[in-house]
Amino acid sequence: MIHKIRVIVAMALLVGAKGVAIIIPWTFKQVVDAFEGGSPEQLLVIPVGFVLLYGGLRFGSVFLGELRDAVFSRVTESAMRKVGLEVFAHLHQLELDFHLSRQTGGISRDIDRGTNGINFMMRFMVFNILPTILELILVMLILLFAFNVWFSAVTLVCVVAYVIFSIKTTEWRTRFVKEANRLDSKSSTRAVDSLLNYETVKYFNNEAFEAEHYNDNLKAWEQARVDNRLSLALLNSGQALIIGLGVTALMYLAAKGVAEETMTIGDLVMVNMYLLQLFIPLNALGFIYREIRRALSDVENMFGLLKRKPTVQDLDNAPNIQVPNAEIEFTEVNFSYQDKRQILNQLSFKVAAGEKVAIVGPSGSGKSTIGRLLFRFYDVDSGSITIDGQDLRNVQQLSLRQAIGVVPQDTVLFNDTIWNNVAYGCPEASDEIIWQAIDRASLRNFVESIPDGVETIVGERGLKVSGGEKQRIAIARVLLKNPEILLFDEATSALDSESERSILKALAKISTNKTTLVITHRLSTIVDADRILVIDNGALVEQGNHQELLAQNGHYARLWQMQQTSSG
Ligand SMILES: Nc1ncnc2c1ncn2[C@@H]1O[C@H](COP(=O)(O)OP(=O)(O)O)[C@@H](O)[C@H]1O
Ligand SMILES: [Mg+2]
Repeated sequence: MIHKIRVIVAMALLVGAKGVAIIIPWTFKQVVDAFEGGSPEQLLVIPVGFVLLYGGLRFGSVFLGELRDAVFSRVTESAMRKVGLEVFAHLHQLELDFHLSRQTGGISRDIDRGTNGINFMMRFMVFNILPTILELILVMLILLFAFNVWFSAVTLVCVVAYVIFSIKTTEWRTRFVKEANRLDSKSSTRAVDSLLNYETVKYFNNEAFEAEHYNDNLKAWEQARVDNRLSLALLNSGQALIIGLGVTALMYLAAKGVAEETMTIGDLVMVNMYLLQLFIPLNALGFIYREIRRALSDVENMFGLLKRKPTVQDLDNAPNIQVPNAEIEFTEVNFSYQDKRQILNQLSFKVAAGEKVAIVGPSGSGKSTIGRLLFRFYDVDSGSITIDGQDLRNVQQLSLRQAIGVVPQDTVLFNDTIWNNVAYGCPEASDEIIWQAIDRASLRNFVESIPDGVETIVGERGLKVSGGEKQRIAIARVLLKNPEILLFDEATSALDSESERSILKALAKISTNKTTLVITHRLSTIVDADRILVIDNGALVEQGNHQELLAQNGHYARLWQMQQTSSG
């Protein structure tokens, strides 16, 4: 069924259920009145009829309500799914920095609460608030026409007082709810972070410290929830007091009517029933107002995530990048992560088609940053980066990233099998091609030596395989992706020299026709590079091949000397 029809059907069911509910007290009145001075046969026949009707209506009103929820649930659930999906997709659009500083536990809670909030608002706005108002109007009309204006007036005053009290108190309470939510997110973020750092916690014997920290967070949350609970008790008691006063006043009026014989016992019973029936949803009105306030703030929170604009965005109608040669050029690139500290300084260099270029330099000099800019995780502050003459800012990010394969400095794996982690490089690849990639990354010996082979689960963030194995998995999946440009960021740093040599040999073969950037601090691995760029403090200080740089007797020669003596 399409959503529109579902909504209409649900509405019809809603009106039906309310209509049935309105008749119930009236049938009950008929039953009661039949006992007053009726003849013996009336005493049997009429009440039995009304009793049956009464029972049927009671069931009918609940049943229609349930049917309505069942019909409507597809609408709310699919709205939840769509919004959840949109937020998820959006999170992947946001820049690297957002993800480096985000708190995963907190965000997933925010999304959960936000989508639940949407569900709540859709269901209750439409199906509780509106029908309750409708029912209130009907009841007041019935009371007005059946009895006198006092009944309607008392009911109205009571309802208005109730609504005002509920809203005012709920507004006052909102800060307790917000505080409890905030502390809830905080403690769960903290717990997730602590568990992710399991090993670090052990290395420093800080289990007690972690527990204490977590406990502090939990204590604050506990206090907030207690405050929350106390304010809730106040709200509920106040509501009950108003209802109690209202019912008392109406019962007094009805009892007086019976005594003066302007009303029957049946009328008294009916008035009582209308009131109690009216206050059942009204009772929920307080709860609903509260929950809607909360849902609003949850949804607002979630949409806050959606409102964050990615800092790196495609231009409208940006074309896909064309990479026939894969020539890379950096021109006077300046870049900083934060305003205060310049990371790249007027950096210019060119990498010709198919060239293998190494980037070396001290730690923190900006080598990995060059890779991140090439991959367009960030935009340059000034200057430009081009591939085959196209500025990265003018092309589709997706096409750019398709053309570049990165083996990062710190590889993180999915908590899945080795096979799936490799296949991630190209999910549609055939088994044969995946095995080829595994071979080329010198991974085959390893997977054949472990009991579960390629079906081995690597553990959260890949913690169950060694650093070297992780790097080989990362290399295999980039080989599978088979991009035009390869970027290795200290990709073999965790390998022993022998496997490093074998991989480098394999890489040399694979990368013969590809433009390759190799970032490394181990100079022995790049002596055969076509060109070596020496970076210091984000600026290019020397370039040339190994022999030329040694002859220059500058930075590179010094580094080389140092590594020769330390490794020899
Ligand atoms: N996301 C970031 N926000 C702020 N500073 C960063 C960020 N990433 C890296 N840096 C800083 O930028 C400098 C260069 O980093 P990087 O390019 O990773 O160096 P390396 O040459 O060792 O690969 C370092 O000092 C690092 O602390
Ligand atoms: Mg680095």
